[in-house]
Amino acid sequence: MRLGLIGYGNIAATLLGLLERTGVRPAHLAVLARPGSGATVRARIAADAADVPALAGAATVVEDAAGLLGCAPDLVVECAGHGGVAAHVPAILRAGVDLVLVSVGAMSDAALEASLRAAATEGGARIILPAGAVGGIDLLAALAPAGGLEVIYRGSKPPRAWAGTPAEAALDLDTLTERRVFFQGSAREAARDYPKNANVAATLALAGAGFEATRVELIADPAAAGNMHSYEVRSPVANYRMEIENLPSAGNAKTSVSTVYSVLREVRNRMAVVAI
Ligand SMILES: NC(=O)c1ccc[n+]([C@@H]2O[C@H](COP(=O)([O-])OP(=O)(O)OC[C@H]3O[C@@H](n4cnc5c(N)ncnc54)[C@H](O)[C@@H]3O)[C@@H](O)[C@H]2O)c1
Repeated sequence: MRLGLIGYGNIAATLLGLLERTGVRPAHLAVLARPGSGATVRARIAADAADVPALAGAATVVEDAAGLLGCAPDLVVECAGHGGVAAHVPAILRAGVDLVLVSVGAMSDAALEASLRAAATEGGARIILPAGAVGGIDLLAALAPAGGLEVIYRGSKPPRAWAGTPAEAALDLDTLTERRVFFQGSAREAARDYPKNANVAATLALAGAGFEATRVELIADPAAAGNMHSYEVRSPVANYRMEIENLPSAGNAKTSVSTVYSVLREVRNRMAVVAI
């Protein structure tokens, strides 16, 4: 497979290491870096090649979507964030290349979601949404056509992990001694007010009841060991609860390492005889 990556940060680098460890070697690798940062990304890839020998001299680094398309990727993985999605993903989809969209929270921007869907339709490409930091998305998406879904998601973190968000106005994060729900609203509102935490709520919304009907609670909990995600689903077909305690990835504490494994799964499934 000829693989393209948009962004070369924590997810991209960890993904390449996992591909190597699991015996998957892309026939070609192209990396789309921010304009002006190609040389930096090339140097980082060269340094990472010590752990991922397949990288040594093998990656083409480009700085725009046309350059990436020039490398004829079979699959592109976006792992650059909302700005990278808006800047590059429509062109990739319009060119008919399937794309794993890791920054799922970008789809909470209704105008951007519409433009991505239009570009994919025009190009005959698919936007593949990985489960990311949550699980059970298969069941939620399967239940959605039955209608009558009620979904409530609770995202819980230690108080200081909410620093730099509107939670600071509602709580004194330094002195909090007990669990506090500081946000209750729709997945759309959660993504708007807490964009750096939008991915999980957006993934649940897109799989299930939509951005308006999916309820979100955000919680500061001094007893939380790390980033906890839990959600409950009620439907006429089945009810279930999920609770996930994720470990942070080494390169970016805000990204759960299981997110990278979910992207690995999408890439491996793409090449596997049996996809699961
Ligand atoms: N679906 C999920 O559950 C989930 C979970 C965690 C993170 N994410 C998403 O994945 C993204 C990447 O996570 P990460 O841990 O690798 O972050 P990171 O900050 O380590 O890496 C992002 C990289 O993308 C690059 N970049 C940014 N804008 C770009 C652009 N316009 N063009 C090319 N490159 C660009 C940055 O320079 C950086 O190197 C996050 O922004 C987040 O939205 C999704």
